[in-house]
Amino acid sequence: MSLVSSSAPIVCTGGPLSAIDTDLLIVPWFEDDVPGPVGVDGASGGEIARALSAREFQAKPYELLVVPVSDRSWRAPRVALIGGGAAERGSAFVRKLATAAGLAARQKRVVRAAFAVRGTGDIQELAQAVAEGLTLAEFYAGSYKTTDPPPAPSPTWTVVVSDANDQALASLSAAVARGRILGECSNMARELANEPGNTLTPREFAKRTAALASDAGVKVDILDETRIEQLGMGLLLGVARGSVEPPRVIVFRYDPPGAPDTPVLGLVGKGITFDTGGISIKPAEKMEQMKDDMAGGAAVACAMRAIALLKAPMRVIGVVPTTENMPGGRAMKPGDVLKSAAGKTVEVINTDAEGRLVLGDGLWYARQLGATHLVDVATLTGAVVVALGKITSGIFGAPDAWVDRVRRVADRAGDRMWPLPLFDEYRDQIKSDIADMMNTGGRAAGSITAAMFLKEFVDGVPWVHLDIAGTAWADEAKPYLPKGPSGVAVRTLANLAFERFDAKG
Ligand code: BES
Ligand code: MN
Ligand code: ZN
Repeated sequence: MSLVSSSAPIVCTGGPLSAIDTDLLIVPWFEDDVPGPVGVDGASGGEIARALSAREFQAKPYELLVVPVSDRSWRAPRVALIGGGAAERGSAFVRKLATAAGLAARQKRVVRAAFAVRGTGDIQELAQAVAEGLTLAEFYAGSYKTTDPPPAPSPTWTVVVSDANDQALASLSAAVARGRILGECSNMARELANEPGNTLTPREFAKRTAALASDAGVKVDILDETRIEQLGMGLLLGVARGSVEPPRVIVFRYDPPGAPDTPVLGLVGKGITFDTGGISIKPAEKMEQMKDDMAGGAAVACAMRAIALLKAPMRVIGVVPTTENMPGGRAMKPGDVLKSAAGKTVEVINTDAEGRLVLGDGLWYARQLGATHLVDVATLTGAVVVALGKITSGIFGAPDAWVDRVRRVADRAGDRMWPLPLFDEYRDQIKSDIADMMNTGGRAAGSITAAMFLKEFVDGVPWVHLDIAGTAWADEAKPYLPKGPSGVAVRTLANLAFERFDAKG
């Protein structure tokens, strides 16, 4: 992986579709499109109408139909319709259509492609979502292959907004540029999550995320084991004891000149570069998947980069505690009691519940640095996969206004999230006989008791916890998302830095 890479800009243009100079013009086509966007069927010499009436093309979501353009007054030699179905037309769906179109264009080795923006809602939001979607299609997961042919380079893209005048085009181009950045930062997080545990150690994770964030103007501080000890982060140190690789805390600071003192958004990400489970070791089956247990930390780092590149107006702090969770000779053991930097003691029941431990110290540190509003992101529990599957992240927190705000932002960013409750009664499940709390709460409501544990470290500051254990990695390819790391939460976290919130959230 290159430390910091940047791809060709996406051009945004108006004008009639006939004037678009490209090799493949991609147009979304919805099921009730009769006769469809102006001139497209005519340009195909009626081929589209024929394919529709023969039910050869039904415009089902992500279905593709490529037709030659017979009208000599058109500049594009071919048009591809991408099916839009009948149910959705908002920006979250249009983003997925653009990704599917981008993946198809790459597979067909198209050199120059254009995507026509269609959908409902704010046109800038749609254009931005299209740029995000097209960029997400550029991610390549096979970077260690030496004998396969290299992946087809991505086409150079033009985003077309048919009826835009020059004035509208200026703001649409800015929206497309924003989408490009958010897509690229999502892809950087995917590259990090895809990286194996032997290359991405905590030190290497710190080095790479520091490079990608400081390249954008974010200040980065990497705390080593001595600093971590001075700060008293006994939970992080407890997890790190089992490994010969030393832990780190990666601290990001974005302070735009002239920004008000508050609010200060604090982003905290779980950075376990490999989770064996420790002494409470995991079964061998699928353990290799635990290389992505730093996906939350990657999301925070890459969101910090996006926030700086997009020049968000508020202060933002990122904190990523990072370590391996290994069963070495000095590893923490079930029954051990650890002392957190916040002062609270924890009885370790299961060493595989390590994420909440490192986040406990991370949340405390973000508060120390002045965060007034917290969001943590973590591949925290298998239980959230049972509850919500691989489609939806769990969202927890308080107060409701802050949780609702993050949810709204996530919706528009294309990150599906659904709330789970944090009723006080759940706290009983993590009561310890010997310490302030235990690090597990039994099988029932496993994701909720994990969140209740984190809540002990936020001290009443508005806080949201995102459990991305199910969403960080796609086990099966979808037309709009290949198998592998998804980049979940990057865009949500970045967009949050553009919200206006007060002490209540
Ligand atoms: N990293 C795992 C959670 C996880 C599981 C992520 C599956 C992705 C897929 C986490 O550290 C963990 O091991 N959690 C335990 C907690 C339990 C011991 C209370 C779990 O979910 O089993
Ligand atoms: Mn674990
Ligand atoms: Zn873990």
